[in-house]
Amino acid sequence: MNDLSGTFSMPAPAPLAPGVTLHDFAPIQESFAEALVKGLSQPSKAIPARFLYDEHGSRLFDRICELPEYYPTRTELSILRDRAAEIATVIGPHAALVEFGAGSSQKARLVLDALDVPVAYVPIDVSRAHLIQLAEEIAADHPGLEVAAVCADYTQPLELPEFTQRARRVGFFPGSTIGNLPREEARAFLSAWAGQLSGDGVMIVGVDLKKPIEIVLPAYDDAQGVTAAFSLNVLARANREAAADFDLASFRHHVTYDPASGQVAIHLESLRDQQASVAGRTFRFAKGELVHVEDSNKYAVEEFQALAREAGYTPEAVWIDPKGLFSVHALRVG
Ligand code: AVI
Repeated sequence: MNDLSGTFSMPAPAPLAPGVTLHDFAPIQESFAEALVKGLSQPSKAIPARFLYDEHGSRLFDRICELPEYYPTRTELSILRDRAAEIATVIGPHAALVEFGAGSSQKARLVLDALDVPVAYVPIDVSRAHLIQLAEEIAADHPGLEVAAVCADYTQPLELPEFTQRARRVGFFPGSTIGNLPREEARAFLSAWAGQLSGDGVMIVGVDLKKPIEIVLPAYDDAQGVTAAFSLNVLARANREAAADFDLASFRHHVTYDPASGQVAIHLESLRDQQASVAGRTFRFAKGELVHVEDSNKYAVEEFQALAREAGYTPEAVWIDPKGLFSVHALRVG
């Protein structure tokens, strides 16, 4: 994670649907084959989690969000719906809502619709097609709102666009995606963006709460096997895109949750002694060997607030659903 001191300069925007501009930083698409070879060459083998989200993986993730066991999406939506007015009051008028990642438009809409004279919506995502679709959908339903789609990796430094009206930059990072970062990277992310938001700006962050293992494990190992298919898809993707020959039937989705640290760890377990080749390199997997694919960290309210303080924010409010499953934090810059 870099800090934001050496920012890239803003490229000229390209015109799209009325109300929408695209600010394309042309993020470099990392080579999957290279990252895979590097990750599998380590003593503890790993595949970076960002490669889970190709087109098929993203469709599987949308299905995960609908699963009865996967509580985060529907719970966060219920908090945003029930507490939209309070969230809007904390954010205040004339906001430019900067969303990290272009997820489903549902969450941003709940916030935008409650805001007092919002000026702009600024989704940032590496997936250009998805970003433009989201930006155009939001613009169509919010005449007068400036929608500035930024195609970039939000973990890297970048210069945010200017707007025709004065606006206060407010961050929005829903979904507990922050939990997919190691704690130190989560702190660095928050700290880097504190400098980019307005002096009196706010960061709104969705954070999954620590909770009993009986609730967490099924959310990441569902009965229909959709999450297992999501993890295994990264091997199928390797076969499609990285000249690999993984036998998918010889690996299984493996999940653990440590209630003390709040860490969900997702691995692929080799079911037999085997080897697979990737881009001309051969890798051996012992029976029972684990390949790390993703972590999903859960935080108690006080733990996340402590992290936010370390990153240069003052926790201002936190909203939690009645069952105590999920939290939405408002963090004031400074
Ligand atoms: C995207 N992210 C917040 C999900 C999570 O809950 O950590 C990713 C996920 N992986 C398996 N299920 C969901």
